[in-house]
Amino acid sequence: MMNAERGFRIATSIVAASAVACGGNEFVLDPAGPQAGRVTDLWWYMFAVAAIVWVLVVAALLYAARHGHGRDVPDQSDETNDRLRRPVSIAAGITVLVLVATLIYDVTAGEALASLPRDKALRIKITGHQWWWEIQYMDPVSGNQVSTANEIHIPTGEPVQIIGSSADVIHSFWIPNLAGKKDLIPGHATAMWLQADKPGIYRGQCAEFCGHQHAKMAVLVMAESRQQFNSWYNSQLQPAAPPPDSMSKTGEKIFMSKGCPLCHTVGGTMAQGHIGPPLTHIGSSYTLAAGTLKNTRGNLAGWIVDPQRIKPGVRMPPNDLAGPELQALLSYLESLR
Ligand code: CUA
Repeated sequence: MMNAERGFRIATSIVAASAVACGGNEFVLDPAGPQAGRVTDLWWYMFAVAAIVWVLVVAALLYAARHGHGRDVPDQSDETNDRLRRPVSIAAGITVLVLVATLIYDVTAGEALASLPRDKALRIKITGHQWWWEIQYMDPVSGNQVSTANEIHIPTGEPVQIIGSSADVIHSFWIPNLAGKKDLIPGHATAMWLQADKPGIYRGQCAEFCGHQHAKMAVLVMAESRQQFNSWYNSQLQPAAPPPDSMSKTGEKIFMSKGCPLCHTVGGTMAQGHIGPPLTHIGSSYTLAAGTLKNTRGNLAGWIVDPQRIKPGVRMPPNDLAGPELQALLSYLESLR
């Protein structure tokens, strides 16, 4: 068992290391918080029980194969039945006990995962869209709410309450290193909580098939110190920075005249659309299109010109822009930090 566990721990670190290379930790057996820790403990318990049962069954099978060899006709005498009644009853009793213990452990872990802290936890509303995540920080002070997309910053060591819902079909919010899955259901709020004890970037993935681009619906959680979180939060509260140079200024005009504001919000401007993700601070995000692309100028250009090629079925239409127009628009979007 210890060897099996060691093997799994080695596999864990290899997978975790390769996941980091792809832009964030994403492995269910490498918990970074208490909620994920409970899920992992339950997993190891079930793995141990299943491994022991498997070994016992295989041993019994080998024993029977060795000692029952040569008997063509099953022995069904009353004497044999009486002899076997006791061991079979004991085995059935042990099976029932193991199943009941597993059920109790499972229900207890589920209760612990569902219990919400009563103190003033950070509350974040997450709305699933085909195919991106809308993230709203529900600060009780009016004017202190932050809206963003696909990247969630949280302070480490503090409980975070997630209120989930969906704008279209059922999605499922899952950050394997931090907590179990929670469905996001249209017209129905669900709640869960999570906590990251170790700083880092944790990748999550929509875990409920939600249409053509379900696979390209990733989310990143940035767990950072309270101080870093506060400074990020304050930067998000600011409206969009004014274009710093003439190229970005031209880009802003193109953005406002090409229909982009119908779907996207840029805080502090006339762009107040809510169909697509807010772009007020798009220049500082790690990825584009819900984790589909790294946020580079080239990827952004490809996305704007032909998003259907990158993520077929996405609601963003293609844009026929002349080279200089596209470059100006890219400069504007990059300046939104
Ligand atoms: Cu959203 Cu799958």
